[in-house]
Amino acid sequence: MSKKIGILTGGGDAPGLNQVIRGAVYRGIKEYEFEFFAIEDGWKGLLDGILHPLTIDDVRDWSFEGGSLLGSSRTNPFKHDGGGEKCRENFEKMGLDAIIALGGEDTLGVAYKLYSQFDIPTVGAPKTIDNDLPGTDQCFGFDTAVNRVMEAFDRIRTTARSHHRILVVEVMGRHAGWMTLVGGVAGGADIILIPEEPFNIDDVARKLNKLKTEGRKYALIAVSEGAKMKFADATDIITQDARVDEFGHVLLGGIGNILAKELQKRTGWEARHIVLGHLQRGGAPSAFDRWFASRLGIALADQISQDNYGIMLVLKGSAIVPVSLEEAANGIRTVPENIIEIAKIFEPHP
Ligand code: F6P
Repeated sequence: MSKKIGILTGGGDAPGLNQVIRGAVYRGIKEYEFEFFAIEDGWKGLLDGILHPLTIDDVRDWSFEGGSLLGSSRTNPFKHDGGGEKCRENFEKMGLDAIIALGGEDTLGVAYKLYSQFDIPTVGAPKTIDNDLPGTDQCFGFDTAVNRVMEAFDRIRTTARSHHRILVVEVMGRHAGWMTLVGGVAGGADIILIPEEPFNIDDVARKLNKLKTEGRKYALIAVSEGAKMKFADATDIITQDARVDEFGHVLLGGIGNILAKELQKRTGWEARHIVLGHLQRGGAPSAFDRWFASRLGIALADQISQDNYGIMLVLKGSAIVPVSLEEAANGIRTVPENIIEIAKIFEPHP
């Protein structure tokens, strides 16, 4: 039976979004005669009732496109008066049978609430460069972003080496250190600082001084935007702006600059910092993300054909499997101790 499916992308964009959509549209139309509609700008589009048809012709050339061609927002319907009811009303007005929501913990958390409290059939797939969604081994977008971090280190190394400097690279990822740790190890960072392990600046300086005594003339540091620095007896994160968005998130950033200044004072090495920022998120997805995302899209159409709702599709080993959307609403997946230990092997030990 033909179904009308709305698709939306919420939260920060991530490479792979357009390829999930392309996979779902191809599979859904060819195999099940579904009709697809783009809901613009995430949950904002459902609240405002803005959608347009999406055909195979529309998505045919989306194999290499980055960002979200549907637009994205950090709108949380449950922060708007009667938002849940409004979503249900528009879902009915639009004549939809199901919604595909592509997002991280916030977007998929809303998808779960709309499914469990407002009876809207939703399915989702785990998007985020932060790689911090519970229930999946990996999120799409992460592979592309972490490759950008690695490439940044490859470039930064030659200039740090020429000028005998410390170079601090600030990496996105919010309160999880996946991008910093994996990108840092791949890029050969000497020290990796992530939110999971609050750090003391004097310990970092000691490690750098050890490196110096071993004859090294420069150093590379990977630091997460959400890493926590211990000051005297307090531990804090550094924010650009303390205001919170509709999901309660502050805008992180600024730790790289502070760290470079403090380490210069403590080591006598000249220090500089760079913030990779949105360069990590923008541009075309890697082959892995295009492939992973295409598989997710195809499998989403299959799940809808079986009326299997309230689920997100995740990667377990090499298989794509459904788990309850409730898992997405269960906090974030941080880096476990055994993975942190891997990064430590490459650090100087004073
Ligand atoms: O969640 C993805 C992410 O890129 C985080 O790593 C980062 O902290 C945040 O989004 C930045 O958000 P914005 O693009 O709204 O500045």
